[in-house]
Amino acid sequence: METQRHEIGMIGLGVMGRNLLLNMADHGFPVAGYDNDPSKVEALQKESAGSKIHGVANITDFIRLLRSPRAVMMLVPAGPPVDSVIGDLMPLLEKGDLIIDAGNSYFKDTNARARNLAAKGIQFLGVGVSGGEEGARHGPSIMPGGPEEAYERVRPLLEAVAAKVDGDPCVAYLGPGSAGHFVKTVHNGIEYALMQLLAETYDLMKRGLGLSDDQLRDVYDTWNQGELNGYLVEITTRIFSQVDEKTGRRLIDEILDVGKQNGTGMWTSQSAMELQVPAPTIDLAVAMRDMSVLEKQRETAGEIFKQPIPPIACDRRIFIDQLGHALYAAMIMAYTQGMAVLAAASDKYEYHLDLERVARIWRGGCIIRAALLEDIRMAYRNQPGLPNLLLAPELSKKVMANQRDLRRVVCVAIELGLPAPCFMTALGYFDGYRSAWLPANLIQAQRDYFGAHSYERIDVKGTFHTDWTKS
Ligand code: 6PG
Repeated sequence: METQRHEIGMIGLGVMGRNLLLNMADHGFPVAGYDNDPSKVEALQKESAGSKIHGVANITDFIRLLRSPRAVMMLVPAGPPVDSVIGDLMPLLEKGDLIIDAGNSYFKDTNARARNLAAKGIQFLGVGVSGGEEGARHGPSIMPGGPEEAYERVRPLLEAVAAKVDGDPCVAYLGPGSAGHFVKTVHNGIEYALMQLLAETYDLMKRGLGLSDDQLRDVYDTWNQGELNGYLVEITTRIFSQVDEKTGRRLIDEILDVGKQNGTGMWTSQSAMELQVPAPTIDLAVAMRDMSVLEKQRETAGEIFKQPIPPIACDRRIFIDQLGHALYAAMIMAYTQGMAVLAAASDKYEYHLDLERVARIWRGGCIIRAALLEDIRMAYRNQPGLPNLLLAPELSKKVMANQRDLRRVVCVAIELGLPAPCFMTALGYFDGYRSAWLPANLIQAQRDYFGAHSYERIDVKGTFHTDWTKS
């Protein structure tokens, strides 16, 4: 057995772990992989024939393969499996070794694990990896957080395997503790919002305009050539062409309308609520996945509230243009809300995030990569302390140029009775944020009326209470 030769070891040889390991080997790094499922080790051996990968199904043998101080990365499902792997590793590791959790872990779990491991002299990095199967194999976006010196140890490896945009690797140190996992969670929250917005455009064009799958493909393809360019738009184009092997029909029409989830979108919304940052488009994207799961109830309610959907009463081409513009404005709202959550989390959890850097490493490799991220990066470069992306001059011009169409699309969805809650909340967020006056004075008055919670006044500082029932 070749001992102590391998630069890094990977625990968890599922699709993501295996592909990331193959990617590392492609870049010349001697690596070892471990999984307690021998069939996964076998699959790795088969795929890695002739490369610098060593796969084993015994964790003690696996640890022996690694150069000391060791670096072990794990890509296992979030939650208890992460703790179970750490438990298995503890008797085998020594002070100064490094564990990297590259899964979609909840940031508070990452904080607890980092604390426990630090007490035992083990370094811990919480690293977000985005890009799915393909990204892991050929270049993901990587979001590392934890002690900077631990990141420095694996920086050359991570830079080598990450996606590149104009030669710039889509990885950078983000901050201490759970910074990396928090950024990845918000990435996924934005991902949920973009996916739901695209689903709403699909509904408006399918049920509203009666477009065929071929026509839908062409619309998304056209959109992907312009300012809406991005990975999710691109794969949507491809999805509409895919033929079902079983029926010979388009696969999209054979798929159940139930959106599953692993929890990261929900964590983004929960965190936004905890931080008191409005992120309604992300919230509704999570809610609509939950709604989609209620398929039986939706069927019953569909019978009770049956109502034919009238065709959209305007030129098809004009509406599709308006829809594209509305999508662009709504996408800006989704990124804006996610970035605002990051800004607040950075202050509260002392991540010291550089939001330009976050936008930079999201430009390639990850699921939410899009042309728009270059504009977002520039906005933070020009104004590093920007409190909200809607205040960036270039982006605000783009929003203004498209907001009328966003409004129009929301009106059409309302008139037709088609559910478009992410478009609606994107518009609601915009209208709320740009409103120098909001009717929250009434809320203050109501709270004081029924609960004596007091209110603040415009003319004098301090808190006041009125006996509203007197006189
Ligand atoms: C990525 C993806 C990836 C995964 C999500 C899907 O960035 O590569 O976000 O992490 O596909 O976990 O999330 P849901 O299962 O919750 O949709």
